[in-house]
Amino acid sequence: MCGIIGYAGGESDDTVLERLLHGLSNLEYRGYDSAGIAVANAPLAVEKRQGELSELERALTDGGTDSDDWIGSDAVDGFDGPTGIGHTRWSTHGPPSDVNAHPHTSPNGSVAVVHNGIIENYCELREELSAAGYEFRSDTDTEVVPHLIDQERSAGVDRFAAFRAAIDRLEGSYAIAAVFPGCETIYVARHESPLVLGLGEDGNFLASDVPAFIEYTNQVVYLDDGEFAAVSPSSVTVSDESGAVVEKSIETIDWDPEDAGKSGYDHYMRKEITEQPRAIRDCLRGRIEELGGTVSLPELEGLESPSSVQFVACGTSYHAGLFGERLLQRRGIPAQTFVASEYDADELPVDEETLVVGVTQSGETADTMRALRGANRAGATTLALTNVVASSAARECDHVLYIRAGPEISVAATKSFASQQVTLSLLATALADTADPSSSASREHLRELRRLPDHIQSVLDDSNARSVAEAFLESDAYFFIGRGYNAPVALEGALKLKEITYRHAEGFPAGELKHGPLALVTEATPVFAIVSGREKTSATIGNVTEVQARGAPVVAVTDSPETVGSHADYVLEVPETHPAVMPIVANVQLQLVAYWLADALDRPIDKPRNLAKSVTVL
Ligand code: G6P
Repeated sequence: MCGIIGYAGGESDDTVLERLLHGLSNLEYRGYDSAGIAVANAPLAVEKRQGELSELERALTDGGTDSDDWIGSDAVDGFDGPTGIGHTRWSTHGPPSDVNAHPHTSPNGSVAVVHNGIIENYCELREELSAAGYEFRSDTDTEVVPHLIDQERSAGVDRFAAFRAAIDRLEGSYAIAAVFPGCETIYVARHESPLVLGLGEDGNFLASDVPAFIEYTNQVVYLDDGEFAAVSPSSVTVSDESGAVVEKSIETIDWDPEDAGKSGYDHYMRKEITEQPRAIRDCLRGRIEELGGTVSLPELEGLESPSSVQFVACGTSYHAGLFGERLLQRRGIPAQTFVASEYDADELPVDEETLVVGVTQSGETADTMRALRGANRAGATTLALTNVVASSAARECDHVLYIRAGPEISVAATKSFASQQVTLSLLATALADTADPSSSASREHLRELRRLPDHIQSVLDDSNARSVAEAFLESDAYFFIGRGYNAPVALEGALKLKEITYRHAEGFPAGELKHGPLALVTEATPVFAIVSGREKTSATIGNVTEVQARGAPVVAVTDSPETVGSHADYVLEVPETHPAVMPIVANVQLQLVAYWLADALDRPIDKPRNLAKSVTVL
């Protein structure tokens, strides 16, 4: 996701600019498509650019921006104010561009704002502000914030009160920081998006993540949801929604600056596994109306109800497609999943009533793009289900649904798979409603999707996956089985394990094991069985007893340990939930098994040999 840095240093020299740029470069690991800074000179000095940080640095040294008339400073010398904020943007609303980059400012330059998160009610606010005469320059949700603050300031409200009043109008998630011309205090607010303050000897910091300032201080204060802070060169004051001052504890960070990008974890993969609850909350944000049992996906406006759906995808995304296929089939919509490199629209029944969905984290995978282009030519309606705003898939398809997982650095896909499964669950519900207006979406399914972040958190907190992985360090091969909704996760569990451990692993629909692979099963081949307590339970238990009879150790991944536990040597428990939600949670246990096994084998987990994050060749 986006990165925020702020520094209140007090000195009128280059220190602020230098520390902001350094902070931004420390946040580069998060992934970004544009960057910008605002320094609280009077008038405010703002520079922002699409692309790498070097583009921003070049713009600063070459002298100013050409997009904002009111900005007085036209050289790096103009950026010598007492305090400033910076931002690396990962697009969520509007493509990467200079104008969409943060900071965003009010038209008269009375305030500059950086923001992480998603403002759900920005359309209403934009309408209201436009009616009040505010002009919008960007496509972002963020731009409503400086305008709201400016509206309050114009009515004579003081800076902090104006900031609070604006924040009060927002629905959604945010970490927001604002600076005002000639003012050495930065005002910040947090709701469901991380924000940490750094207490330095020569000034104070704020950031979305500790690495932004770790070289300058290891004394930090974590803001909680609903809290505000005023950060000045000499003090940091935290207050709650009512304005009452909150005493916060100061924590000492003991990470090596080099590891800081991983937030103290040894690997990005582990960090990304633990980010799944947050990624799923972002994915669901504003998209479920639970009471009415409906899903709201305005991105699909104008999409005709398809006669059939074809998923095209590669690798982990292919497994997400298989999950989506099952969700649609159960709702009576014909659906099929294709490995993208095998897809040929000319040889398949494809017409204008066919919806072809490209499932692709990066939005750039060559095989998936080729398949989507073929589908486009054949007259199908195409939909990109992707993580990257304005990626090739997003640009070339008729519709796009973003999975909102945030940047994924580790080659092995983890949080993006969970977010794909959640987005597909929403898509299936939305399409089923369109296909048959009388079928109301399963309330329980939606309710359990809402609870999914908590379910995953409980697995992350209590998992025994590490000891299970360490029990099988020397196995010959690892098999994964599951039925129905759990079958795609069996394939994904095996893929994850082979990608990062270099050990042989295979996944099968559970019933298929006896048709061949059973010949390979011995006491040296653990079998991971994903068993739902509410669906196809006895059939999968039957498959488990087949492998046990051949001496194979069994690890049950289940939400029903009392039913399944007696058939297994080890149990990886997950909370009891809807059968279409259970595999998403079960997969987290399998990610952890793969991770801990690879860790014990000392593999280069984030960059496995021969593999690439984005494969842009056919
Ligand atoms: C590569 C990656 C896999 C990924 C696949 C599809 O092979 O190593 O982790 O699943 O590409 O990528 P996409 O970006 O299209 O989801």
